[in-house]
Amino acid sequence: MKVAVFSAKDYDCDFLTAANASDGSRQELSFFETRLDHTTAALAKGAQAVCPFVNDSLQRHSLEALSHLGTRLVALRCAGFNNVDLVAAADLGIAVCRVPAYSPSAVAEHAVALILALNRKTHRAFARVREGNFALEGLLGFDLQGRTVGLIGTGRIGLVVARIMNGFGCKVIGLDPIERNEFRWLGGQYTDFAELLSDADIISLHCPLNPQTHHLINAAAVDRMKPGAMLINTSRGAVIDTKAVIYGLKCGKIGYLGLDVYEEEGDLFFEDLSSQVIQDDVFARLLTFPNALITGHQGFFTQEAMQAIAETTIGNINAFETVGMPLYPICLHANQGSGSYAPRPS
Ligand code: NAI
Repeated sequence: MKVAVFSAKDYDCDFLTAANASDGSRQELSFFETRLDHTTAALAKGAQAVCPFVNDSLQRHSLEALSHLGTRLVALRCAGFNNVDLVAAADLGIAVCRVPAYSPSAVAEHAVALILALNRKTHRAFARVREGNFALEGLLGFDLQGRTVGLIGTGRIGLVVARIMNGFGCKVIGLDPIERNEFRWLGGQYTDFAELLSDADIISLHCPLNPQTHHLINAAAVDRMKPGAMLINTSRGAVIDTKAVIYGLKCGKIGYLGLDVYEEEGDLFFEDLSSQVIQDDVFARLLTFPNALITGHQGFFTQEAMQAIAETTIGNINAFETVGMPLYPICLHANQGSGSYAPRPS
């Protein structure tokens, strides 16, 4: 089957080509560096499947264009599917599938890396020491032992963060419409949103982006936080109202901010813009805070995760070609964003 892979970087080509080769090179992969939207969909001409990533736009216009070109499958190579209009896909008879889980540890460990770096100001210390500045002023941290960590979303990634932070001796509290015994077995306690905001020294977001979680962290939520709290977002950018978080940083309510995702990241992330002027003033303001640490959506980016993503993506496409159904389809009713636990194929 012909597959048009969008937003493709060299590493995507390498991992997908290897996964395809290990399964008999059944798919004819074409790689396009451009993002998929209604203006670029024409590149998929002749491809029965497209393989988009997190910031590709699969709204109705794009899907209609793809449908006219003969696309029958959207094989996302990511977990979240907030960028796909599932109603439009269903109307057009286009199947949509994803990689529901590849390495929750990859993202969880990145969230913890942000926590550790922000607390001990490792990013600032690194720059100082390289300049020959060995002064410690401004680098004072706090012991994680005994601190309260609040997790919003205790699914695959949230559970790994709970396990790690429990290992640091933190009290772990959580919020999730689906309460899990695994979380309790890890020492976690469920609470409500208001208490989580007021009790947590560190708040880490691990829920999907959906209508219920859009701007969940808004100005009212920031006001309820413990003064000087640390906020970490490795989920999806728009779970946070960025302007509200900037207000929180300016008034000191937020003491530390760690972001791997940003609500307008589509125009920035995954590209080398180091020679250009950043046009996004909100993002540019975020970069000015000494207590903010931002990475460009790299939580997933480990060897293990990339291999698993590529293998599941090729598995989805192979299954669709063979039996007309991908391994991990996304159904219309899956409105929890990154979805519920999908059964593993036997
Ligand atoms: P998951 O589906 O296993 O867990 C998400 C959990 O959030 C579920 O337990 C769900 O019940 C819960 N949830 C849904 N609505 C909620 C709400 N209103 N409040 C609190 N909890 C709510 O998903 P997983 O694999 O743990 O991924 C979590 C997030 O991480 C997703 O948004 C995904 O897009 C993002 N992600 C980020 C990556 C990165 O590179 N930064 C890579 C992979 C995923």
